[in-house]
Amino acid sequence: MESTNVTSVRTEILDKKNAEALLGGGEKRIAAQHAKGKLTARERVELFMDEGSFEEIGKFVMHRSKDFGLDKEHYLGDGVVTGYGTVNGRLTYVFAQDFTVFGGSLSETHAEKICRIMDLAMKNGAPIVGLNDSGGARIQEGVLSLAGYADIFYKNTLASGVIPQISAIMGPCAGGAVYSPAITDFIMMVEQTSYMFVTGPNVVKTVTHEDVTSEELGGAMTHATKSGVTHFVAANEVQCIENLKKLLSYLPQNCEDTAPPVPYELENESRPKLATLIPHNPNQPYDMREVIEELADAGSFFEVHRYFAENIVVGFSRIAGRSVGIVANQPAVLAGVLDINASQKAARFVRFCDSFNIPLLVLEDVPGFLPGTDQEWNAIITNGAKLLYAFCEATVPRITVITRKAYGGAYDVMNSKHIGADMNYAWPTAEIAVMGASGAAEIIFKREIAEAEDPAAKLQEKVADYTEKFANPYRAAHRGYVDEVIYPEQTREKLIRAFAMLENKVANLPRKKHGNIPL
Ligand code: HXC
Repeated sequence: MESTNVTSVRTEILDKKNAEALLGGGEKRIAAQHAKGKLTARERVELFMDEGSFEEIGKFVMHRSKDFGLDKEHYLGDGVVTGYGTVNGRLTYVFAQDFTVFGGSLSETHAEKICRIMDLAMKNGAPIVGLNDSGGARIQEGVLSLAGYADIFYKNTLASGVIPQISAIMGPCAGGAVYSPAITDFIMMVEQTSYMFVTGPNVVKTVTHEDVTSEELGGAMTHATKSGVTHFVAANEVQCIENLKKLLSYLPQNCEDTAPPVPYELENESRPKLATLIPHNPNQPYDMREVIEELADAGSFFEVHRYFAENIVVGFSRIAGRSVGIVANQPAVLAGVLDINASQKAARFVRFCDSFNIPLLVLEDVPGFLPGTDQEWNAIITNGAKLLYAFCEATVPRITVITRKAYGGAYDVMNSKHIGADMNYAWPTAEIAVMGASGAAEIIFKREIAEAEDPAAKLQEKVADYTEKFANPYRAAHRGYVDEVIYPEQTREKLIRAFAMLENKVANLPRKKHGNIPL
């Protein structure tokens, strides 16, 4: 009888502690969180993980600090919910900062909890997702908190390229705290309720006298359009969590794994619409997304960096059920020219796909690199080299389709045969040359044109000559730089076969500590 009592008392204690932990910083603060249109850390985790799959680790952890009244204020879990579960049926680790506990601020123990699941994710080869909502360093803990951040940054870096790391920003993320998400592979933000900056509006006002709101300085659309810091923007938290799940569905668990295929039955893979998309006038734009929609499995294209450097389009898709990363020049924006932002955006994406064994498809229609002082002074040379380097080093299956222009250095950079592409196709509308025909004719026949009786007619004649020789894919095909000139409507069939042929590709880079990518 007595032992039953002891057991029930002990169970009651556990029940009480469990209930306390679930309340985080308490009902009032939970209500305040909801009033801001935000979910709590636990609600986010519940939404993110497959139903009933979440296992919490460190639920009763508490901080050890005594300064500034901390000895009197303790919360079970110390402001971060950590654990593992399944997402789309696959093992995934998660940490969710709990803003109701000291504003989600990072203490020594809070950091230890995050580090613990990072270690588990690394040892067990599964993705880690951070749901960030934090006032930054726990101010009362001083350097202990800074040390905790540094531990996380270090582990982020070691995990880079080993397991996918994704950060969702669902509240404040300020100061040095931004650097953990920045090292991870992808950042997602929520409009109006999340922001990221190294220094907030008050410091900005003091130092530069600029008046700026948090949203303008570091809100979701600012980072989506201006800085490119965030890869995805969601209208609300539920959508953000849906995006997280969707993104994970295209990815393998780790760098030794391949992305899970979805079942696909081959049928008629001809896509007649592709034969109608390129305008007759080579200077007229068209939307490369329409080409992508035809080539990818229906509805499978999931765009990354949708609002940044829109002159290049990157994203995940499936082709016959297999994950493929797409990098495509976008003739509808700035004629698809490569500039600093486009080069950085595409380079980072290529690098990610290569790290995680995701084959690459490049769709090319590029008039070259963007000229001008702005580009030169801000280092288009170094930044363009990033994309070149990223492609050169990529060992995953790589296929290029030149739909129209492949001019100048951009021809080389955009996954040409010479830098390691496995299959290069061109449509009959392809133009592979050092530059456009009129620019080329004006340079190489400058004197002849100037001395001609009718310079305009001469220019036209020379343009026609250059066009006939180079504004087509055949010179490149004669050399084998293009493996086949294909009918556009057949492209999807060709890609399905070629990616299947390349499925077991093995390519090794020379032994080295690591390369020195132009950063
Ligand atoms: C301890 C903090 C905290 C922090 C917030 N809180 N930030 N506690 N350390 N960093 C507590 C508040 O005291 C409050 O406690 C609760 O969290 C909610 O905060 P509020 O201010 O009431 O919320 P809100 O009005 O929404 O404002 C959120 C905020 C603001 C903008 C994040 O709290 C804020 O400016 N905090 C300080 C941010 C900061 O300067 N952090 C250090 C950055 S430097 P109660 O008990 O009232 O609920 C940094 C360096 C990292 O992080 C370096 C890494 C290398």
